[in-house]
Amino acid sequence: MSLFKLAYEALICNDVERKILLINDLKKYHIPLDINELKVKVIKIPSPGRPLKPSLVDFKGTPKRDRSDLGMIKNIHAICHIEFNSINLALDAIYRFQEMPHQYYADWIRVAKEETIHFLLIKDFLESVGHSYGDFDAHNGLWQMTVDTDYDVLSRMALVPRVLEARGLDVTPRIRKKFKDANLHKMVEILDIIFKDEIGHVKIGNYWYQYLCHKRDLDPIKTFDLLIKKHIGSNLRGPFNIEARLLSNFSQNELDYLEHPELLETN
Ligand SMILES: [Fe+2]
Repeated sequence: MSLFKLAYEALICNDVERKILLINDLKKYHIPLDINELKVKVIKIPSPGRPLKPSLVDFKGTPKRDRSDLGMIKNIHAICHIEFNSINLALDAIYRFQEMPHQYYADWIRVAKEETIHFLLIKDFLESVGHSYGDFDAHNGLWQMTVDTDYDVLSRMALVPRVLEARGLDVTPRIRKKFKDANLHKMVEILDIIFKDEIGHVKIGNYWYQYLCHKRDLDPIKTFDLLIKKHIGSNLRGPFNIEARLLSNFSQNELDYLEHPELLETN
């Protein structure tokens, strides 16, 4: 199977175990230098392959997550769902954008592989405490942004890794503390693995975003600002994890913009 066909098959696959097997094939895939002959027809995917459960609801309908034992499990379930969505998101980044350099595909295969590891770590944890992925409702925010940015790889890199995944870096220390306070040490360990990998994923998004801006002769910060206004409708809200964002190669200028987007508007 060609690279793009394989990514597509994994993306639309509803069965978790088979999806993971296909991702293992992708991991072993030797990407030829000339990818032109691998190209396949690209179609819109309003809903990616996923098991029947969890049921998807809008944000308002997602389960309340307090600090009770069950509230903590719901939190963990929500993270599990994010990781599952992130697998599909990496596969879509490969399948949909077939005009990118060789390294782009190697990078996103790595992301797909690591998201699979994250998903399995959390799924196994849920099972170890008597629950399963699918026990609670979940929301579809991450995939919706994937669909909304399916028209252009630059918009995708801007909005998914640089906004949504980078937001994960901002909020993880707070979630980690919550798990630590609740003596959920295994979850703290898992979050540390995820956090380290996610820095790498945002770094990949940043690299390709900057690459595309440079190639199209676009100002990276002004372009980002326009895309945020288009897709989010308001400025991004902090607090931002400056240390983690610097590690994932946001420049100081970009961080200054995030903290004070109004200054860009008056320029
Ligand atoms: Fe992840």
